[in-house]
Amino acid sequence: MDIYSFQAELLSWYEKCGRKTLPWRDKSMPNRPYRVLISEIMLQQTQVKTILEHYYFPFLQQFPTLESLAEASEEEVLLQWRGMGYYTRARNLLKCARICSCDFNACLPDCVELLKTLPGIGSYTAGAVACFGFDKAVSFVDSNIRRILIRLFAMYNPTQSLLESEARNILNTENPFNHNQALIDLGALICTPNPKCLLCPLSEFCKGKEDLKVLNLKKTPKSIKKSLHLGVFEKDSQIALYKSQERLYYNLYNFPLLKSYQSLEKLGILKHSYTKYLLDLHLYKVQDLGVFEDDITLFNLQDLDTLPISSMTLKILKFLKKM
Ligand code: ADE
Repeated sequence: MDIYSFQAELLSWYEKCGRKTLPWRDKSMPNRPYRVLISEIMLQQTQVKTILEHYYFPFLQQFPTLESLAEASEEEVLLQWRGMGYYTRARNLLKCARICSCDFNACLPDCVELLKTLPGIGSYTAGAVACFGFDKAVSFVDSNIRRILIRLFAMYNPTQSLLESEARNILNTENPFNHNQALIDLGALICTPNPKCLLCPLSEFCKGKEDLKVLNLKKTPKSIKKSLHLGVFEKDSQIALYKSQERLYYNLYNFPLLKSYQSLEKLGILKHSYTKYLLDLHLYKVQDLGVFEDDITLFNLQDLDTLPISSMTLKILKFLKKM
């Protein structure tokens, strides 16, 4: 493969079709590494559109610098993250900011190896922060780039280290920023699980295009079904919630679990998916606080706006409002 023409095709496609106006790609903004970190952590499990519409700007408004984030409480950070799910990301981000404040003079490190020592930052995010935040000529592999490489080089069950080595081989060291953003966009817009090969600028270089079915493309993560039986206690504009100690929901408020529910009035069942779980949420009306398995706290309904609550709880509240 002629690597120079490959890189040139990719960059010229990015100029014409890339998402160059995404705010975290704006190199003229102050605090670029921090903004890139926030975007990359949010993008790990949440879609671009959701982040742009609801989370990226409010988060930066509330915590405009790494230092301001380091000084925040976990409750304040979780409140900004409310509804986005995967709250470990928010807690790790806060830990990261505090570590950088102590150990790195309130700056993010610019090298992959140091970035990888921070909580919640793996190889991909470390590479993305080094490249997009500091213009370092580094390559990395996320799920989009993985799909491109597998097809481009017709790789069957490649190891992570083989993928990383191919990403390094094709890296454009003259313009790593645009090269990597272009790969991300190509994976998101063209080299999708059902690829649009006719529109692909790299088609002439692609060894896998004749053999897409055999190349392992779609991961179908198995979901685990689970039923939760939750109590709704509402009296005098107050509602009972439980501060979860469970790892995935740690310190977020949820509706409390019930010890027994056989004799309670059923309010409805909602479906909710959360990480690998497909949940059936069975809701019951509660009049006696003794039926709860969890230690509850009563909150005024109007105070819920400032409480870190999970998407699951937001969904239940919306359902109850409509009843
Ligand atoms: N997903 C992960 N990183 C991204 C980026 N920099 N731009 C768009 N989507 C992304």
